[in-house]
Amino acid sequence: MELDAVTRSYARWAPVYDRTFGAITQAGRKRAVAHINRRTGSVLEVGVGTGLSLQNYASHLSVTGIDFSDEMLDKARARVKAQRLDHVTELRQMDARQLDFPDASFDTVAAMHVLSVVPEPEQVMAEIARVLKPGGQVVITNHFTREKGVLGKIERLSAPFADTLGWHSDFSIDTVLQQPTLRIVAQGGLPPLGMMTFLVLEKAVS
Ligand SMILES: C[S@@+](CC[C@H](N)C(=O)[O-])C[C@H]1O[C@@H](n2cnc3c(N)ncnc32)[C@H](O)[C@@H]1O
Repeated sequence: MELDAVTRSYARWAPVYDRTFGAITQAGRKRAVAHINRRTGSVLEVGVGTGLSLQNYASHLSVTGIDFSDEMLDKARARVKAQRLDHVTELRQMDARQLDFPDASFDTVAAMHVLSVVPEPEQVMAEIARVLKPGGQVVITNHFTREKGVLGKIERLSAPFADTLGWHSDFSIDTVLQQPTLRIVAQGGLPPLGMMTFLVLEKAVS
């Protein structure tokens, strides 16, 4: 998607997101955060959206969230304030293609249902790899396209409607596996119906 399409689409999604797409993808978010809660240190959530995951992070972590959509971020900020989520240190408006953080800033980066939305996902993965500390992990939940079957056909037919839907339905896992410093350490299916994938990549130590 182009950035202006992201802006328009998520201004429309923000008021209803938590009760629609947000509700059906909650299992993935919980699985990802449960994994992250076994780690220590700093977390960057890229494309934090309305902040649906923020209340589930353990209090020993320090969580920064970024998103391009002001409307989605407003919801996240209201949630942090209402629930007094002190482990959330910062929520910033930012383009994930140009993260405003120094190299090796974070122990963990979370990217949940965002990589098939951003323009230039390869560039976003390069930025994620850059801001991760050596030995750090990227925890991803996303829908990746199927090559075969009825669902694969539906995904390909829906592909031209990405700007209206708010995400690419035919998004290949290969797109997120191109960073030479990142290797897969966990991968599995997620509800609903295994349509989403849980994926953990780890950055090489040297
Ligand atoms: C489907 S929502 C997922 C939100 C959240 N991660 C969740 O699981 O509920 C995708 C989010 O990606 C954000 N996004 C899209 N392109 C972006 C970009 N270039 N930089 C930062 N955020 C972006 C959108 O604004 C939206 O909030």
